[in-house]
Amino acid sequence: MHFLPQLFANNRIWSEQQVRRDPKYFERLCEIQRPQYLWIGCSDSRVPANTIVGLAPGEVFVHRNVANIVRPDDPNCLSVLQYSVDILQISNIIVCGHYRCGGIQAAFGPPAANPLEGWISHIRAIRAEHHDELASLDGETARWERLCELNVVAQIRILRTLPTIVQAWQRGHSLAIHGWIYDLRDGLLRDLEVSVNKPAR
Ligand code: CO
Repeated sequence: MHFLPQLFANNRIWSEQQVRRDPKYFERLCEIQRPQYLWIGCSDSRVPANTIVGLAPGEVFVHRNVANIVRPDDPNCLSVLQYSVDILQISNIIVCGHYRCGGIQAAFGPPAANPLEGWISHIRAIRAEHHDELASLDGETARWERLCELNVVAQIRILRTLPTIVQAWQRGHSLAIHGWIYDLRDGLLRDLEVSVNKPAR
């Protein structure tokens, strides 16, 4: 039995194209991965990390979840961080949110079922923290978009306090954390200009 045959057909074509372009392609990738970047992004199917920054396999280590959240109690995200910083020695962490994020929108809506609601509660907390600013904006879309940005900034703040990151900085590891937002409407990234490369004082 062969499920999803189209995907296997696509895969075969892709693999053959890679080898045609570069006969040693897979051989080289097998030997080592040395990405310079850790991408923490949303699971949204419209925001594929490698594609939108034009990076090939081997060039970016990727962690994605609903609404690109970094939680100090999430062993999945923390393990990705630990591996990418301590073992792969990546030098840039990018937290990339995106406008029209469904996870962010959910934080304006009624409670979802668990476990999703537990996850979204972290965004609800950021929304509450910025209540006044959000309330001052004109219209639902403006509030939604601003919370997409504020959520990225909040994750940077958390990352900066995590032991893996703090210890890397203490060891003199050159490591910068960046906050970006992606716009589905034109495919462009914007730097939120919240980059940090040392612990908060
Ligand atoms: Co999203």
